[in-house]
Amino acid sequence: MDLNLKNKKVFISGSTKGIGFETAKLFLKEGASVIINGRTDKSVNEAISELNNPNVKGITADFSDESNINSLIKKLPNDIDILVNNVGIFRGKDFKDETPDDWSDHIQVNLMSGVKLSKHFLPKMINRNWGRILFISSECSTLVPGDLLRYSVSKASVSVFSSGLAKLTKGSNVTVNTIIPGSTLTEGSKKFLEETAKRENKTKDQVEREFFKDIRDSSLISRFLSVKEVANTILYFSSPLSSGTNGASIRVDGGSMGSII
Ligand SMILES: NC(=O)c1ccc[n+]([C@@H]2O[C@H](COP(=O)([O-])OP(=O)(O)OC[C@H]3O[C@@H](n4cnc5c(N)ncnc54)[C@H](OP(=O)(O)O)[C@@H]3O)[C@@H](O)[C@H]2O)c1
Repeated sequence: MDLNLKNKKVFISGSTKGIGFETAKLFLKEGASVIINGRTDKSVNEAISELNNPNVKGITADFSDESNINSLIKKLPNDIDILVNNVGIFRGKDFKDETPDDWSDHIQVNLMSGVKLSKHFLPKMINRNWGRILFISSECSTLVPGDLLRYSVSKASVSVFSSGLAKLTKGSNVTVNTIIPGSTLTEGSKKFLEETAKRENKTKDQVEREFFKDIRDSSLISRFLSVKEVANTILYFSSPLSSGTNGASIRVDGGSMGSII
């Protein structure tokens, strides 16, 4: 299927690794131009050389730092067609050990990154009467695991913000949708497995097996999703072919959320 993404200009936040990186790879395959992002010049340059495509560029910026976000926005071209608000941090920690900084970090990176970028790009997309804004939320927005409270709250806020933002596109060809991945095997989730193994004095394999047996037992596929499964979905809802879908939450959760819509 031709996704009609050739020559579209794409920005993906937090895309030197994981779901964002795989999404960049697929956009490039479709002939789009992609700007990737990460916190260090080193990680951005390494990702660019791995992608090995003349249509990829990178901008270093840390979304936990307000001034970095402002300078990133100044460096981005105004005519971005597709904004993928992908950046997200998730650290497992007992509620009793969480600090106010842990909470503000999650809100700043997971929610405010997308709020700020959308505030900048949505009016421009509306003026050009075409655009796609995608938010990457998480199954945790409704499953709300006890050791990921601040992450779940930040992701539920992302879903709410995305749904409200879509209402501002009424009557235009701009769409805003939320993609909701389930547990996906990325560097981030590998780290999560390692941290949990350390905290609970178990091996990583043990944590992984127990995860789908005891914690994510609602998963129908009973395995981690691949980054490609999630990125394929992001690509489709970024494409002109998805023009009938706006203000939606699309689950790529392997069935874990269990809801009928
Ligand atoms: N993996 C899962 O199981 C899962 C499940 C549901 C939803 N999600 C969501 O999917 C999205 C992608 O997750 P992932 O697992 O693919 O992530 P990941 O593998 O942990 O990759 C994180 C990416 O974000 C960048 N990053 C991290 N903090 C940043 C910051 N403060 N500013 C700028 N860039 C930053 C990293 O770049 P550098 O290292 O180069 O700085 C890296 O490119 C997130 O929103 C996550 O919440 C993931």
